[in-house]
Amino acid sequence: AQVDKAGHKHFMAKEIAEQPQVIGNAVKHYFGDSGQTISLPDGGIDFTGVDRLVMVACGTAYYACLTAKYWFEQIARLPVEVDVASEFRYREPPVTDRTVAVFVSQSGETADTLAALRYCRDKADRIVSVVNVAESSIARESDLALPILAGTEIGVASTKAFSCQLTVLLTLALEAGRQRGTLDEDRYESLVAALRGLPAVLGRALDNNAAAEELSLQIAEAQDILFLGRGLMYPLALEGALKMKEISYIHAEAYASGELKHGPIALIDKHVPVVVMAPRDALFDKTVSNMQEVMARGGKVLLISDLAGIEAAQDGVWRSIEMPSVDPLLTPILYALPAQLLAYHTAVAKGTDVDQPRNLAKSVTVE
Ligand code: G6P
Repeated sequence: AQVDKAGHKHFMAKEIAEQPQVIGNAVKHYFGDSGQTISLPDGGIDFTGVDRLVMVACGTAYYACLTAKYWFEQIARLPVEVDVASEFRYREPPVTDRTVAVFVSQSGETADTLAALRYCRDKADRIVSVVNVAESSIARESDLALPILAGTEIGVASTKAFSCQLTVLLTLALEAGRQRGTLDEDRYESLVAALRGLPAVLGRALDNNAAAEELSLQIAEAQDILFLGRGLMYPLALEGALKMKEISYIHAEAYASGELKHGPIALIDKHVPVVVMAPRDALFDKTVSNMQEVMARGGKVLLISDLAGIEAAQDGVWRSIEMPSVDPLLTPILYALPAQLLAYHTAVAKGTDVDQPRNLAKSVTVE
């Protein structure tokens, strides 16, 4: 069927707005209407007999993998290696029959990711893919293909596919934790409940649309933008910077907050907006102290946090965006939305071709 913009100005705006619904669909697909555990097709994955996960992807899907590394390590105590496909495939990395290899791709056709999958074919215990296009090459060549159910994504800059990839990867990490006995039952159940509650929380995050639009008029004036985050917010900062440069053409970079002092702080002056993603979690105080180092050098901080975080740290910040509170493990899925909205509105303010940015393709089937 032909996909239209459903009243939105761009496909990207429509795809951002669809996230509560498609993530709700993905959660229902894996957990059912009221279940607690997931059942996977094709024999599933036995996480108890493996000692390592290797995750490979490109672009936005790579940042979904980086996020998942934090989840699998924390929740399932499983070591995870993440690499971009174009590096992985030529490095001839050791892959053993105690490795599960996971390939994440919206299109399922990215040439480098497919080549990396083929490299692992007779080496890994199991080849798992997390894809949006069920009939794609990557899905077909996997032992187990897990759909993300985002629906057709048209905007070149990936939005709903990213948050659906995250949702499916977190679901897998919970399953791994359950199998490996690293997650106690109460915690498991509360995380499943939190996943089920996501659509409502995401809907509230989208209420920041007008605020993001207004802020973006000023961000559009910048030459450079920095994104900072720690822990689970670090990969998301990378994704926020990628989104911003892809469609607004503003130079955007992301750093782990703790790395700021090792270089990037030299770039800070009053012209550089610094987007700090910091829900009030266990690492909040550390990030705030990095944020204060930025402000002490005249940096213009946009703090994205929950009410408790904003109340605790708003002194001296340029602007803030208030997010709903959610279990700290789910924050990457939620905080993806303001990152997307900022990039979107900044691009619109600059008048770029949002859905078809210059030099980029939706799916890269050449090396
Ligand atoms: C292209 C797209 C990106 C995407 C990347 C990986 O560069 O412009 O948005 O993240 O490919 O695509 P895949 O289909 O493998 O997720």
